[in-house]
Amino acid sequence: MASDAPPARVPRHLAIIMDGNGRWAERRRRPRVIGHRAGARAVNQCIDFCIEHGIGALTLFAFSSENWGRPEEEVGALMKLFLNALASEVEELHRRGVRVRFIGERERFGDAIRARMEHAETLTRGNATLHLSIAASYGGRWDIVNAARGLAADVAAGRIRPEDIDERSLGMRTALADLPPPDLFIRTGGDLRISNFLLWQLAYTELWFTETLWPDVDAATLRQALADYAMRERRFGLTGAQVSTPSSMPPSGTNE
Ligand code: FPP
Repeated sequence: MASDAPPARVPRHLAIIMDGNGRWAERRRRPRVIGHRAGARAVNQCIDFCIEHGIGALTLFAFSSENWGRPEEEVGALMKLFLNALASEVEELHRRGVRVRFIGERERFGDAIRARMEHAETLTRGNATLHLSIAASYGGRWDIVNAARGLAADVAAGRIRPEDIDERSLGMRTALADLPPPDLFIRTGGDLRISNFLLWQLAYTELWFTETLWPDVDAATLRQALADYAMRERRFGLTGAQVSTPSSMPPSGTNE
């Protein structure tokens, strides 16, 4: 039967700040690490959801550049959790066609975690069902500085001229440059900020916030985010009339 409803609009790339693990545990009078463990279970559900809904890329903020400043005990517990998750989940992710990669200052992690990150990336390199990027020891400012440093090195070596630097050449050097920028950003836990997540890449991303704490996020929460996203009009700086004429839209490609 023909329907007047517009075709469902699913984000190609979803980026999430998974906030609220600590409060989830504190409300249960449990140590914060219990909240992070529950958060890891919610990560698995979220991956399932993305695969089921045909979302091509998922980027999760697992550990920020600033999180190194948390109490030593919590940082240690999180490292242990990452190590265990890398050991126990990677084969299954591979079986499901998930390509895994890590973005951030990898040098700051210990040898064991770095080795498992590399193993996960190598094992899953050829997969394409879902591009899962884990931001770990990541900061949006770090990302931009890193890109600028690469361009400065190219100028110093005479490979490019300063006037060749533009949004495209800088964007190409930021993390995830081979993916479309996130269409939808979700932050759980009630705070209304971006907290140094993908600063460059989020320029025209639709933002969605929920009070729900990350460990409580389920398919219903994610379905609501997708439903709200599908109702948004994305104008990319143009007028409403222009965006209803697709030929005047900017290209939807790589980080533009
Ligand atoms: C923010 O909650 C969450 C983190 C700093 C860690 C995120 C880690 C996970 C979800 C677990 C494992 C992830 C992977 C990819 C295996 P918070 O501690 O700031 O919570 P609060 O705001 O309630 O204190």
